[in-house]
Amino acid sequence: MSLTEQAERLAAEAASAFDGASSEADLFQLKSRYLGKKGALAALLKEIPRLEPAERSTTGAGINRAKKLAEAAFDARLVSIKDAALASNIEGLDPTAPPRGRWKGHLHPVMRAWQEIADIFVSMGYSIHEGPEVDTDWHSFEALNIPAGHPAREMQDTFYIRDSQEKLVLRPHTSPVQIRTMLQAKPPVRMICPGAVYRVDNDTTHTPMFHQIEGLVVDTHTTMADLKGTLAAFAKAYFGPTAEVRFRASFFPFTEPSAEVDVSCVFCDRSGSAGCKVCKDTGWLEVLGCGMVDPEVFRAVGYDPDVYQGFAFGMGIDRMAMLRYGIDDLRLLFKNDLRMLEQF
Ligand code: DAH
Repeated sequence: MSLTEQAERLAAEAASAFDGASSEADLFQLKSRYLGKKGALAALLKEIPRLEPAERSTTGAGINRAKKLAEAAFDARLVSIKDAALASNIEGLDPTAPPRGRWKGHLHPVMRAWQEIADIFVSMGYSIHEGPEVDTDWHSFEALNIPAGHPAREMQDTFYIRDSQEKLVLRPHTSPVQIRTMLQAKPPVRMICPGAVYRVDNDTTHTPMFHQIEGLVVDTHTTMADLKGTLAAFAKAYFGPTAEVRFRASFFPFTEPSAEVDVSCVFCDRSGSAGCKVCKDTGWLEVLGCGMVDPEVFRAVGYDPDVYQGFAFGMGIDRMAMLRYGIDDLRLLFKNDLRMLEQF
C-alpha cells in the first residue's frame, strides 16, 4: 500500500473514531492520536524522505489532503458535541421560573456619609458648591490669610504641581471654595462644599487623599451663636438626638475666633470609663474646625468687613463615616476590599 493510500485509510478511520467520541475530552484524545505532532498521520509524513525523489511531492500532497479530511471530521464532531451539551443544559431550564434577583451594588460608606451630611445642610437652606481639586496657591492659602512660611504650606504637607506658572497645588483642604464662592456671589452666602482633598500623609488616621465638607455662611448679622446652634443641630441630625457638642478655643488663620468642635462619644455614651477605644475614655470625639470668618479673608474677596460677618467650618467626611460605622482604620476605606465594603 502506498503512503497516500495508508493516509486515506487512516483519515477514514479517524473520521469514524471522531464520530464515535462521546465527550469533548475523548474527542481531543483521539485528535492527538491521529492528528497530533506525534500522531499517525505525522508519522506517515516522516516516511517521505525515504521515497524516490520523483514521488515525494505527490505523496506529501496526498497525505496532507487526507489530513485535511480528518481535521474537517474533527471540527464537525466538536461542534455537534458542544451543541448537544448546550441543548441538554437548556433542557433543565424553566423559562417560566421567577428571576433569581440581581446583585445590587450600594454606595461606598464615604459617599453615604457625604450625601447624608450634605442632605442635613441642604435641609437647613445651604446650597452645594464645588471647586477644582487642582487650585492656585492664592486661593488655597494666600486669600485665606495663610501667609508664606505657615506650616500648612510646607512641602511635606502640600502636593505642589511642579513648574506651574501660577503656583498650583492639589488643594489640601476645601477652604479655597469659600474664596471662589465669595468672588462669584454677593452675600448672603450659605454654602457647603464637599470634595476630595490631598496631603502628603499616610498612616492609620491619614491618607494622601481624603474628603472634607466646607461650610460658609455670610450675612450682615451672623454670629457665633448661629455657628454654635447650627453645628449642634447638625450633630444631632447626624449622630442622633442625644449627641451634644462642645467648643474648644483653637486657631485657624482664616477665622477669628476659631474653635474645634467635639461631639459626645457615640460609642460609649460618654460614660468615660468603659475602656472606649474611640474616644480613649474622654467621652468626646473631635469632629471639626470652625470659627468666625477673619476680616482679612473678606478683604481678599472684596467683601466689606464692616458690613458683613460670617462663620465657616470644615469637617472630614471620612472621619464622620468612620465614627458612624465604627471603622477604626481610615485606610480601610480606600483599599476597595469587598469583604470590608459589603458590610455597609
Ligand atoms: N481647612 C481646615 C483644615 O483643613 C478646616 C477648617 C477649619 C475649615 C476651620 C474651616 C474653618 O472653614 O473655619 O484643617
